[in-house]
Amino acid sequence: MEPVIPDLRATPKSDAYARLAELQAVLLEGSDDVIAGMATTSALLHHAFGHLWTGFYRVVEPDRLLRVGPYQGSLGCLEITFGRGVCGTAAAEQRTVVVPDVHAFPGHIACDGRSRSEIVVPVFGADGRLIAVLDIDSAQLAMFDAVDAAGLERLMTWFRSTRG
Ligand code: SME
Repeated sequence: MEPVIPDLRATPKSDAYARLAELQAVLLEGSDDVIAGMATTSALLHHAFGHLWTGFYRVVEPDRLLRVGPYQGSLGCLEITFGRGVCGTAAAEQRTVVVPDVHAFPGHIACDGRSRSEIVVPVFGADGRLIAVLDIDSAQLAMFDAVDAAGLERLMTWFRSTRG
């Protein structure tokens, strides 16, 4: 039977992330492929929560350049320099950045004019190197909080056991 992504919009966030971590483990069992992980995880998150944009920007030049990877939603920009926008800030500082109001974030890159709030989480690979950032954009103000940060950081630990 085809697995169906559950709609978790009405589920308390911590329960929702626990459920998604279980699903991620089942769906990716036996895989250590980064792209498979990014594609599957972005589809899970995007459809479970109904966000505007959910996806990855990959580190293609360490400390310098991010390029778009697997994502779901409206079109994303192709490349982001470290230090620019929310994604570039999270990459340069290697920390989760929660932005309750994107219009109040200096240098925010508007790929979709409907975006109102955003969270970006660093993704580390097997050797602890930064390999990507996960970016989620919402049409609602202040959509993301510390529970999202913890839940998403937990989902991103899957990438520590990948190759490449
Ligand atoms: N808003 C992001 C850019 C990426 S997209 O919106 C998909 C940023 O400021 O980093």
